[in-house]
Amino acid sequence: MSTTFRTAVVRTPGGPDSIEIIDVPVVEPGPGQVRVEIAGAAVNPVDLAVAAGVFHGRGLVDQPHHTGLGWDFAGTVVAAGPGVDLPVGSRVAGLVDGFDRDFGTYAEQLVVAAADIALVPAGLDLIAAATVPTNGLAAAQLLDLLGDGDGRRLLVTGAAGAVGGYVVTLAQDRGWQVTGLARARDEEFVRGLGAGFTTRATPGWDAVADGGVLQEQGLALVRDGGLFAGVQPGAAPAAERGITVHVVLTRPDGARLAQLLDATASGHLPARVHAVVPLDQVASAHRAVAKGGVRGRYVLQP
Ligand SMILES: NC(=O)c1ccc[n+]([C@@H]2O[C@H](COP(=O)([O-])OP(=O)(O)OC[C@H]3O[C@@H](n4cnc5c(N)ncnc54)[C@H](OP(=O)(O)O)[C@@H]3O)[C@@H](O)[C@H]2O)c1
Repeated sequence: MSTTFRTAVVRTPGGPDSIEIIDVPVVEPGPGQVRVEIAGAAVNPVDLAVAAGVFHGRGLVDQPHHTGLGWDFAGTVVAAGPGVDLPVGSRVAGLVDGFDRDFGTYAEQLVVAAADIALVPAGLDLIAAATVPTNGLAAAQLLDLLGDGDGRRLLVTGAAGAVGGYVVTLAQDRGWQVTGLARARDEEFVRGLGAGFTTRATPGWDAVADGGVLQEQGLALVRDGGLFAGVQPGAAPAAERGITVHVVLTRPDGARLAQLLDATASGHLPARVHAVVPLDQVASAHRAVAKGGVRGRYVLQP
């Protein structure tokens, strides 16, 4: 067995062209950890920001050699540390959060806490499963901040995006009356999720979930005393008019993720893969996502 594996990193971040594929040593899982052979790693906006040096620029990354890329993954358990009862061969998915790390999911393998991952149900392939963790949990955890809707009116901006699409469905499950704000071409998708649709919202919503990162413009759509939930930690719009401003910071949660994967396998949540590309083509995938307009995720295959 090889003693090294391939992974995509940035040394001096500077956008897609600064991404390198390097060989790093295989690590054995410690107590409570598993090693996963990765089948797919979704490309998310946060990865583009790491590769561009956004978080380095804010002083949030302090890596002496290189910074790992990628949050989402799905794959197969190939080794388990002490205290783990997941058998080798289990199909799993999960996310690693944060920016300041020398490893990521854009890799052939990953060592991760078993509590942070979930089994992928038999009816769901690993590529589709790789698109679920970060944005499914972001949506679920955002809705924890807003609470149950009890029939109140929620506007979801960026409703055709990854976070927004999940919020549209999960919010209806929690009793919100949902309208999605998206591009004109996204109408069929948003209405297909059972929500109302608009390309231009007027103010007065009980709550706004800001998957489209409209920030102050999104806050302006909330009624006095309403709720706003943003997706940019460290950049929450200033509260005004008695509005409660929340910002989600997605965290791994294996139990919750298992529910989201089951809901994807059953078709309750959409499985949205735009394209599967080899890990070697990570830079072109990043360039394509940066242009905007992509629906569904690029999934990197190591
Ligand atoms: N805080 C956290 O823990 C956390 C977790 C997950 C994601 N996020 C953040 O959440 C944001 C969304 O992520 P994502 O993966 O859902 O991105 P995404 O899939 O690109 O979705 C964003 C959507 O918003 C749409 N949009 C943007 N401006 C719009 C406008 N003015 N009107 C209508 N639609 C508009 C985009 O359309 P076009 O493509 O046509 O522009 C796109 O469909 C990112 O900034 C991401 O980093 C944060």
